[in-house]
Amino acid sequence: MQKHPDLAILLRAATPLVVVETHEEVRAIEAFRGCLAEFWKPLYRWSVTHGLVRLDMDMPPAPGQDTSPQGTLRRILQNREKSVYLLLDFAPWLEDPVNIRLIKEICQQQQAEHTLAIIGPKIELPPGLQPIAHRYDLQLPGDAELEAMIREEAFNWSRRHDGRRVKVHKRSLEQLVRTLRGLNLKDARRLARNAIYQDGAITDEDLPQVMQAKFELLGQGGVLQFEYETARFSEVAGLRKLKHWLELRKPAFFADKPLPGLDSPRGVLLLGVQGGGKSLAAKAVAGLYGLPLLRLDLASLYNKYHGESERNLRESLKTADIMAPCVLWVDEIEKGVAASDSDEGTSRRMLGTLLSWLSERKHPVFLVATANDISALPPELMRKGRLDEIFFVDLPGHEVRKEIFRIHLQKREQDPEGFDLDELANHAEGFSGAEIEQAVVSGLYQAYARKEGLNDSHILAALKSTHPLSHVMAEKVQALREWGQSRAVPAD
Ligand SMILES: Nc1ncnc2c1ncn2[C@@H]1O[C@H](COP(=O)(O)OP(=O)(O)OP(=O)(O)O)[C@@H](O)[C@H]1O
Ligand SMILES: [Mg+2]
Repeated sequence: MQKHPDLAILLRAATPLVVVETHEEVRAIEAFRGCLAEFWKPLYRWSVTHGLVRLDMDMPPAPGQDTSPQGTLRRILQNREKSVYLLLDFAPWLEDPVNIRLIKEICQQQQAEHTLAIIGPKIELPPGLQPIAHRYDLQLPGDAELEAMIREEAFNWSRRHDGRRVKVHKRSLEQLVRTLRGLNLKDARRLARNAIYQDGAITDEDLPQVMQAKFELLGQGGVLQFEYETARFSEVAGLRKLKHWLELRKPAFFADKPLPGLDSPRGVLLLGVQGGGKSLAAKAVAGLYGLPLLRLDLASLYNKYHGESERNLRESLKTADIMAPCVLWVDEIEKGVAASDSDEGTSRRMLGTLLSWLSERKHPVFLVATANDISALPPELMRKGRLDEIFFVDLPGHEVRKEIFRIHLQKREQDPEGFDLDELANHAEGFSGAEIEQAVVSGLYQAYARKEGLNDSHILAALKSTHPLSHVMAEKVQALREWGQSRAVPAD
């Protein structure tokens, strides 16, 4: 199969001037070589250090050859055999009017039909050459090319280790290929090599590191963060409906081709009281789907980058697309897109950018947005069809509170069997998950101060001395709960 069909077309048509802007010189040369393997033409490369060298056959350079840019162009002009010339790092000589004229004459020659290809990292053409030039983008490597590269690296490892073979799990290899998508071959090779050389194997354990390294290569520090820690749903009490919903849609999200009649899920909005476990749930979505988690801080995007907010948002979304499949977590979404009259429309435009990305979404990015202030949420975001569902994360009921105690006691190496969970849950009515966790933590401090083992009385004392938010801000929390219970799907 032709790897660069568009380039092949350009060469068949004897396009006189092709410009390839790339840092991957070797790969560019290989692309030309690959195309010319099908319909032969002599292929030359020129560099200031080596002059003109024939690439398609082993031919020593002509003795006494004038290797200067001008001398080279004159020779090309005189050659009557249709050929392809790759001019490496030629950009600085494009400022010379004589060279410009020579290139023009080569391109206008009727019989010779040469192709000149200028290859380099940054190429600005003088106005005289612009109309005759054709820019060609070296496509990023596809899956087949990535897999071939990984196999090559595995082979190299094997040669250096007395022929021992790299252990390759088929599924991990597929995942690695998927993770390397969106990178150029050089960077992808470096990451693949690191993964192989660590332990002579390609396994699922390599993936988080490769994902993080890829994220760092994309140079998106600041507003978009790679969250190394994801969570498991077993660490989250309640939220059973949300979990079930996610599990049902997992196959559609990961399908290579759309499943008949089933749309790939786009994302959810988690709305709820503070400390109810929304952020924890966002992490657990990534854990459940086994995907990297990117966290977008809209509030700081909005505050820190005046005038640049939208561009930064667009770039963050592009990075998420390149990192796909992944979970994009937008925490406290209302802080970035809330309608406000005082910001010259920035928040409106950010919302517009986000909504159009959501509706045009081309890559498997699952959005998890969290919010705890409904009054600030713009109606466009809430409209059905943008996000798949709005879940309400309510204050935990009795059984869920018991489970939260169990989880946080276990986390701190306490045996839940030694506690009266029913009693604790009774006294924690109106408490959020975060507040229950805090009661366990304060109880531990109490016990430690008294040189005692933790027991119910320490936690009960901590609960009694806490005023949960649902009491302190009773009206606000009540309003939110009423809204959530009537307009959103309960998460548990
Ligand atoms: N359902 C739960 N199960 C287990 N732990 C929980 C639960 N809810 C909250 N917690 C604990 O409380 C901590 C804080 O919760 P989290 O930050 O997820 O709440 P939130 O809803 O995002 O709050 P906020 O609105 O303030 O952002 C969690 O890290 C977790 O330890
Ligand atoms: Mg949160």
